[in-house]
Amino acid sequence: MSERFLVTGGSRLEGVVGVGGAKNSVLKLMAAALLAEGTTVVTNCPDILDVPLMADVLRGLGCEVELTDSSVAITTPAEPKYHADFAAVRQFRASVCVLGPLVARCRQAVVALPGGDAIGSRPLDMHQSGLQLLGADSTIEHGCVVARAEDLNGANIRLAFPSVGATENILMAAVLAKGETVIDNAAREPEIVDLCNMLVRMGAHIDGAGTSTLTIEGVERLQPTTHRVIGDRIVAATWGIAASMTRGDVRVEGVNPKHLGLVLDKLRAAGAEVTPEPNGFRVLQRERPQAVNFATLPFPGFPTDLQPMAIGLAAVADGTSMITENVFEARFRFVEEMIRLGADARTDGHHAVVRGIPRLSSAPVWSSDIRAGAGLVLAGLCAEGVTEVHDVYHIDRGYPRFVENLQGLGGQIERVGTAS
Ligand code: UD1
Repeated sequence: MSERFLVTGGSRLEGVVGVGGAKNSVLKLMAAALLAEGTTVVTNCPDILDVPLMADVLRGLGCEVELTDSSVAITTPAEPKYHADFAAVRQFRASVCVLGPLVARCRQAVVALPGGDAIGSRPLDMHQSGLQLLGADSTIEHGCVVARAEDLNGANIRLAFPSVGATENILMAAVLAKGETVIDNAAREPEIVDLCNMLVRMGAHIDGAGTSTLTIEGVERLQPTTHRVIGDRIVAATWGIAASMTRGDVRVEGVNPKHLGLVLDKLRAAGAEVTPEPNGFRVLQRERPQAVNFATLPFPGFPTDLQPMAIGLAAVADGTSMITENVFEARFRFVEEMIRLGADARTDGHHAVVRGIPRLSSAPVWSSDIRAGAGLVLAGLCAEGVTEVHDVYHIDRGYPRFVENLQGLGGQIERVGTAS
């Protein structure tokens, strides 16, 4: 049987936990290395599978990639290849972020479509129409996004929704386009700001990082650089929510607390004492958490990636919580697994109503994606008995040393079985 976690409920999490670089940043920064000939170094890389997978995608495009402990050195040739084939990209969706850089460098790109996802449909229409406005005709052919441009010229682009991936792809194409590009309704996530900071260090001209209007003045070429990935706010918040759910006392280090403003406010509303620190924060929850409503929204709203943990918190809180999912429609599928753990939860379209109970009850449960898996483990920490969490390879894709970190905080969890 493949690897699974055995989680024994009842312990209170206590202690200090460090977080590494953000998964949702590092992959885009690695893709950005395609934009400059020479060696770009990305440091503070998290130890997760998607990093070597992205390294393989880049190798397939002609780069030399050297991975060490927590950094990656990418040497991009003068003329990268422009075809990222299915074998390389099929394992993770984020690989689609090579599209913008390839269009910028090669004036053409063929990137296999990564396929479906457990959290809902993930179309690329905004990526495509943005690149089209810059001059890159884009079609879907034989399972690939194909983009070709005679020339890339700056344009005014208004996104219908502040998509993280579309903002990144358009941005990475626009930095090498001729003239000015304005992206309106751009995503404002800290990971976008991280990417902008790296691109500026490479010689790009970008104004408005962190706002919903990005103005980019294209340059002829970029230079390689060295860049440190920001801390992973989603991993950090997972530990903070776990502290609250277990009435624990946890200090999280390695993240900018400003990236978690609303999340920390929600924990305060649940009754936690939350103290921001220069490089992290502390969550101390003395009493049973109070019910809190959550609505997921693009940054600075409550992150959709934390919705499963919010459901976990609601499941053990005192009172009834309403959780609204506004970003990925199918993300509530995992609630069925929470119900197996005894959660009193009902979903209807975009809404979940969760009536908290003092103690969940252990059961075998299955992770369907990274965040759902983490949410189930947190629920298992609050369940009577031993909860068996299956398909934990999902969790390993987003959380480096998940079991060790949780054990370090006093959580009773062990990994059993063999990797499939
Ligand atoms: C990124 C994150 C993911 C996070 C999400 C939202 C990475 C690797 N992943 O995903 O963890 O949950 O941001 O914060 O960084 N959409 C369209 N058309 C498009 C693009 C998106 O309709 O062309 C829709 C999506 O279906 C979804 C919404 O826009 O409903 C948000 O998606 P987006 O922000 O693009 O998410 P990702 O970049 O895929």
